[in-house]
Amino acid sequence: MTHDDLFADLDRRRAEAHLGGGQARIDKQHQSGKLTARERIDLLLDPGSFRELGVFVRHQMTAFGLDRDRPYGDGVVTGWGTVDGRVVYVFAQDFTVFGGSLGDAHAQKIVRLMKAAMDNGAPIIGLNDSGGARIQEGVVSLGGYADIFLLNTLASGVVPQLSAILGPCAGGAVYSPAITDFTFMVRGGSYMFVTGPDVVKTVTNEEVTKEELGGADTHASKSGVCHVACDNEGDLLLRLRQILAYVPQNCEETAPRVPSKPANAALAAALDTLVPLNPNKPYDIRDVIGGIVDDGSFFEIHEDFAAQLVVGFARLDGRSVGIVANQPAVLAGVLDLSSSVKGARFVRFCDAFNIPLVVFEDVPGFLPGTDQEWRGVIRHGAKLLFAFCEATVPKVTVITRKAYGGAYDVMNSKHVGGDLNLAWPTAEIAVMGPKGAVEIIHRRAIAAAEDPAAEEARLTEEYRERFANPYVAAEYGYVDDVIRPSETRQRLIDAMVRLETKVVTLPRKKHSNIPL
Ligand code: HXC
Repeated sequence: MTHDDLFADLDRRRAEAHLGGGQARIDKQHQSGKLTARERIDLLLDPGSFRELGVFVRHQMTAFGLDRDRPYGDGVVTGWGTVDGRVVYVFAQDFTVFGGSLGDAHAQKIVRLMKAAMDNGAPIIGLNDSGGARIQEGVVSLGGYADIFLLNTLASGVVPQLSAILGPCAGGAVYSPAITDFTFMVRGGSYMFVTGPDVVKTVTNEEVTKEELGGADTHASKSGVCHVACDNEGDLLLRLRQILAYVPQNCEETAPRVPSKPANAALAAALDTLVPLNPNKPYDIRDVIGGIVDDGSFFEIHEDFAAQLVVGFARLDGRSVGIVANQPAVLAGVLDLSSSVKGARFVRFCDAFNIPLVVFEDVPGFLPGTDQEWRGVIRHGAKLLFAFCEATVPKVTVITRKAYGGAYDVMNSKHVGGDLNLAWPTAEIAVMGPKGAVEIIHRRAIAAAEDPAAEEARLTEEYRERFANPYVAAEYGYVDDVIRPSETRQRLIDAMVRLETKVVTLPRKKHSNIPL
């Protein structure tokens, strides 16, 4: 035996590990339009930066003839590398090995990786493509999932956790991505459900395809389980790289600052006259965002889910911020059950990872109706309120138009800790809109009038002049200043510099009890 023999043996073993479930299964993976685990890692990370851990791990099982089938890696590739020079920990399930199914050795590789990421304060990225619990390993694989769920939970708020779904993700397996911060899915190639179409048919007699039940578009628009839906795997892996640039490595750090860019010139130029004077006319809040933040920096989360609230990351003078904005172009920007939950989760992510919040407010209130009330708009609306109240990061609000009722309080008002609350001259800050208010407080006078319609119109106009403006709130100090829209970018940038030293601590407690 020579050194060369030893090295040749090592090379042979490594080549075997790299081949996963073999060339035939790799070909099948490619034929179904999917990349392999290693190809995905190569696209995600900076070239040549991947350092694999546990390459020679094998399962120790014997049942069902498993002792004759012990592939290196056990169906998951784990390790660390860099994205834009910053360390991340990655696991990628290898569908060519036992369908990426999760057994004990597979689970413990993921658990070790997550512990290392937490110890060293770096994000964890999971690339999921798996047939679920490895059937031959039985309860041991269920235990493996639970070990991962526990680590996901302990890591929550310590390091950012991102999940990509690039194939099947079914049964209890869905709960690992569900606990992580953001879930990305690929259209056509991925699905997530607790029970698949066959079980659904048996239990509820519904006929549904995998895609309809749990594909990317379903979860991006109906359930909100998916935060970012992508057209293909390459696009998804690029989007993962992009989102990392907005977030810090861990809860002790701040997000990296990048070179500043001016706001989009055309949108910035249109800002002063963007909000229509007629309060019933919609406009697109994304044009407001685009006219204020660094050009091209807005990374929207949950684009197709609860679109009446727009959330996402952006940059102001190169600094990362979290945007939460009512969208008057969808349902007049009303707050409801889904938008409250969407906003609350995003606010809590930003707060956990020291990302300042910028709120653009144009909200007529909470959505009325039995559907909302019976489904718990009180409980769910309370989440958004709670999240803003509890957030200790810099919090800035710009009221562009309506700020009515409870929604005024909720949307990061001064009272719940807004550090800087600005309003545009088009702002209307009141308990409710003029029409509704007049119908209640002047009901008798209107009924007794000679011409009730004319009287109502007169009183509505009187109310509008008196209350539907930002100055009453400004008199009380609830609004720090009323500014021209075109001044907003600079005022927000100044605020971010001033608030960099903000320190607020919450009362001592084990943890809060957010209404769930
Ligand atoms: C062991 C599995 C497996 C599994 C797939 N394979 N799923 N091996 N345990 N769970 C193997 C197959 O035997 C096959 O091996 C290879 O992976 C590829 O599978 P195919 O069926 O050929 O692929 P495809 O047609 O693309 O179908 C993929 C699939 C299907 C839809 C995922 O394989 C499937 O339905 N698998 C079972 C899914 C399941 O019921 N899982 C348990 C769910 S319960 P060969 O050697 O032929 O290549 C669960 C609970 C988690 O996960 C609980 C957590 C708390």
